[in-house]
Amino acid sequence: MKVLTILGSPRKNAASTAIANHFNEEATANGAEVTTYTLNDMDYKGCQGCNACKTGKESCVLNDDLTPLFESLKEADVVVVATPIYLGDVTAQLKGFFDRFYSTISPEYFETGIPTSRLPQGKKSLIIATQGAEETKHADIANRYDSYFETSGFKDRKIIRDCSRMDFTDKAPAATSITMAKTIAREFATA
Ligand SMILES: Cc1cc2nc3c(=O)[nH]c(=O)nc-3n(C[C@H](O)[C@H](O)[C@H](O)COP(=O)(O)O)c2cc1C
Repeated sequence: MKVLTILGSPRKNAASTAIANHFNEEATANGAEVTTYTLNDMDYKGCQGCNACKTGKESCVLNDDLTPLFESLKEADVVVVATPIYLGDVTAQLKGFFDRFYSTISPEYFETGIPTSRLPQGKKSLIIATQGAEETKHADIANRYDSYFETSGFKDRKIIRDCSRMDFTDKAPAATSITMAKTIAREFATA
């Protein structure tokens, strides 16, 4: 099983990263090969809206630090994205990735209205979202990004939300989040 983990927090001791690390460790213990990208350490542009990926090119024409990440994305069996919620959305770092994810959508989608992805079908995904606010707030955000994975043919999709973190310290993730990460890693590795 090949795992691609994309870290969206700029913080060194991020809870979202800690949860992703627990997933990665358990996945590795179950035979997975993990590749991790820390977006905040990378140099890349947001989508330029050039639509080259819809008018002749099969992939994004930008050549930067996201280019090898998108190569890994094609091969990955499991994609993990981890992010804090910033101003009611994923971090700018992760939004930059998701805007470029547009390049994986085939132009047929715009003719037929039927979502068609260039990615191999049947991948698995895990979205990890941490937030200061309580659980009832921002429930839509992870679901919204999960829907992009769904329309791209991801079949087994999970979400972990670690909430009520408004204390400005490096508080560890909730024990339930860690347990969920490890359980999902084992499920993905054995399914
Ligand atoms: C710029 C900024 C914006 C934030 N906006 C929100 C927000 O809209 N809603 C919320 O619940 N928490 C918000 N937070 C709190 C973070 O989501 C929270 O501290 C999170 O646990 C940090 O995750 P990390 O440890 O994975 O980096 C914000 C924090 C920062 C620094």
